[in-house]
This record gives sequence, structure tokens and C-alpha cells, in this order.
Amino acid sequence: MSRPLLPSVTYEAAPNIALVKYWGVRDPTLALPYNSSLSVTLDRLRSRTTVRFDAALGEDRVSLNGVPATGGPREGVVRFLDRVRALAGRSERADVRSANNFPTASGLASSASGFAALAGAASLAAGLALSDRDLSRLARFGSGSACRSVFGGFVEWRAGRRPDGRDCFARSIYGPDHWPELVDLVLLVRDAPVKQVRSAEAMQATVRTSAYFPVRQREVPGRLRRMRAAIGARRADRLFPLVMEECDSFRQACETTRPTLDYLTSASRAILAEVRDANQRAGRPIAAYTHDAGAHVHVFTLRRHLVRLRSQLAEIDGVERTLVVRPGPGGRTLATAQKAQT
Ligand code: DP6
Repeated sequence: MSRPLLPSVTYEAAPNIALVKYWGVRDPTLALPYNSSLSVTLDRLRSRTTVRFDAALGEDRVSLNGVPATGGPREGVVRFLDRVRALAGRSERADVRSANNFPTASGLASSASGFAALAGAASLAAGLALSDRDLSRLARFGSGSACRSVFGGFVEWRAGRRPDGRDCFARSIYGPDHWPELVDLVLLVRDAPVKQVRSAEAMQATVRTSAYFPVRQREVPGRLRRMRAAIGARRADRLFPLVMEECDSFRQACETTRPTLDYLTSASRAILAEVRDANQRAGRPIAAYTHDAGAHVHVFTLRRHLVRLRSQLAEIDGVERTLVVRPGPGGRTLATAQKAQT
């Protein structure tokens, strides 16, 4: 007897690095953030996910980087698949294979690219044809920052104000080719601690316990507006100080959380100090550091400063590897195959 055939779909998405950080959930049921955020989707780094729903499966099968997923990571994927099944009116279990071409859970935002890729592959495999905006709305239930990885280039995730979340969505504000001079030098540091607490939980501890959090909330909208304008005008001299100011604000929010949140290693801190020094020596902002909830540091600069900056920063004790990335494209479907099932 043949069953209705469901396609196997492969979708690919890239991580993003936030220039304005998402840090605080205003409504956990609808996955609405307190503040709007702004990020750059990166080229070269990729999560590639293949999903097939299959009536013959008794439970969801999830493999991450070739290894069967267990515990929290598996539960996160299964919960997300439940949401897709509910949306599509389906009950079949799924086979999910996902792989990254970069270190997982290392602060390189694999949850953003991973859930964007899962949203793309699972929704199509379940027969849903979502617009990118709705795909992004779906992705944020897996990981907030994943809603930005659906889009390429410079992406703004608007927090919105409505309690029903209808005005909360992400969109690309400038495409990947908007600013060819801008590069992101990623510095991977040695012994970067693997995240113990999901960011989604850590940020709620900040909301509950940090006296600085309300101050930050008042600062962010103005900073985001100024950043958007600096990106639009391709003004590194305006953008770079804002990127560092925002990163410092995010770190302050983490440090004032009880118990305190500290994501950096001594090498990460040395990178921040060296970027400040390089700007001081140049007498103008030639670079900007930023980091997410992890120890690796992204240093934005212009192509003409890259060679010198890279050799200076690569010398810092504890810097293991450097990687140059640029703004890249959003998520895309790679393959859809209809496999015969009997
Ligand atoms: C610091 O959306 O990655 O990277 O749901 O735990 O995956 P999880 O949270 P996530 O949190 C992102 C926090 C951040 C800032 C940002 O990317 O905007």
C-alpha cells in the first residue's frame, strides 16, 4: 500500500551577528521581544537542514552534525516540529538532519541559523508555503534571533507594540551588497565555554534582576535609529562607536544580572582592549567590536584596515583562529525531493 508522499526538503540559512541585541522577552507565549534589534546576516557560515515527514515513524528522529540529538537540543526541535504540525494540520513524525559548517553552540549563533533552516525545511516539507515574513515569524519560536536569519544583509527585527504581536516582524533593511567595504573579522578564542543556559532563559534573569535593564530599554531605540542611519549612509565613523556602545550596554546588562552572566574569556577582553587602542592610535574609529552570549568576538572594520588589524588581533594570546566574513544572503531552499514511500 502506498501512503501519500511527502517531500524531503533541504533549506540553508546563515548565522547573524546582532549590532543591536535582542535581550529580553516581553511575551513568551507569542515570542515577542522587549526591544527591536538589528543584525548582519553572515556569508560563508551555514546551517543546512533536511526534513521529511513520514507516517511510518513512531517518533521524531533528529540528527545534529551527524550525531543523534538528545536532551534539550532534541526537545527544542521536537517542540518546534509540533508547532509546524499544528500549523499544517498534520500528525506525521519527522526525520530531521541538520549540519553546520562552523562550531555549534560556541557563541557563533548556531541556534539562529539552525532554527531558520529548520523553519524553512519543516514548513515546506509539511506542505506550508509561507512568505518570508511568516517564515521569520515561525522561526522566532525556535530561537528569537532566528527570525533575522531568514533575511539577508542588514536586518531589523521590530519589536512592535501590539499585545497580539502583529506588528512584530523582521525584514531586510539593506541587502548584502549595500556596503562592500564593510567586513566582519571573527576572532575565535580558545576554551570558549559552551553555553550552559539558553539565552532565552538568561535574558529573563536580566529582566528580573538587573537594575540597569530599564535604563538600557530607554537607550536602545535611539541607538538603533542612529545605527540605521549610519548604515544607510555607509558612515563607519558613525556606526563603529554605536556598535561598541551597544555591545558595552549588553555586557553591562549581563554583568548586573544576578547571578551575574559572564560570557567572555581573558582573550575576548584583550580583543576589546586592542580594538579600543587601535581606534585611539588611528585618532578615529577604524573598527568596532561586538559579541553575543559567547566568548568569540566580531570586529567590524573596512577592507582597507583589515590586513593590519587582523595581524594585530591574531597575535593576542588565546586567539585560536580568525575568519573574515561579509554580509551575506538570507535563507533559501536547496532541494526538494519526492521519495517514493511504500
Ligand atoms: C545575545 O535568540 O539566540 O545573541 O532562544 O536561547 O537561542 P535562544 O536565544 P537567542 O538570543 C540571542 C541573544 C543575543 C543577541 C541577539 O542575537 O540579538
